[in-house]
Amino acid sequence: MDGNGRWAKARGLPRMMGHRAGVEALKTTLRLCSDWGIGALTAYAFSTENWSRPGDEVNFLMTLFERVLQRELEALESEQVRIRFLGDLEVLPAGLQELIADATERTAGNTGIHFNVCTNYGGRRELVLAAQKLAQRAVRGELDPTLIDENIFAAELFTAGEEDPDLLIRTSGERRISNFLLWQLAYAEIHVTDVFWPDFDEVTFTQALVDYQSRCRRFGGLEPIAVNHLGS
Ligand code: IPE
Ligand code: MG
Repeated sequence: MDGNGRWAKARGLPRMMGHRAGVEALKTTLRLCSDWGIGALTAYAFSTENWSRPGDEVNFLMTLFERVLQRELEALESEQVRIRFLGDLEVLPAGLQELIADATERTAGNTGIHFNVCTNYGGRRELVLAAQKLAQRAVRGELDPTLIDENIFAAELFTAGEEDPDLLIRTSGERRISNFLLWQLAYAEIHVTDVFWPDFDEVTFTQALVDYQSRCRRFGGLEPIAVNHLGS
């Protein structure tokens, strides 16, 4: 969800207003995904590198996450959204951690879209943690290291149990991965749009899906594999 700051700057507004507008774009996107039968939406809300921003912006974002979660939880519940937060959650403010635990638990049995919010998430950190957990199991004699395969490794990631994303949408014209889902995006199609995140809407989302539908996915083989359905 990139470009909140630039969206605000272009309007002569403080960056924080961009973050607020970004929440509305996220709500719209989640609703569209859910309506269109997309199985999962994973949004990058806060990276392990975002702590390097000025303290007032970090504090604003943490408070925004708390407020939005409080305000939207009932709607998420009634719309059958299953929400999860992926990342190192232990270092988040205590109040936010409580809200996250509550929202996760209350929506765990929901049968609708899987909505994953990457919060204090870093792809490299996720891989390191998975390696640590596997090494600990091996040291305890519970796991034969030679048996570690892609499935066993993926089961230690924050995304355990989720399908790999089919489509990565990169807003604000940036052409990089920025430490997002490094393992999971191995075969994702990438759509780059110049639109700043707060302006991402039904029209720009449709453009992304049409672009995705035009892709020929071969997963390293020679035969195309049909992709007109987005599983996740
Ligand atoms: C993304 O927008 C939102 C978060 C990282 C929370 P930015 O804040 O990165 O916006 P730009 O890149 O400064 O425009
Ligand atoms: Mg940015």
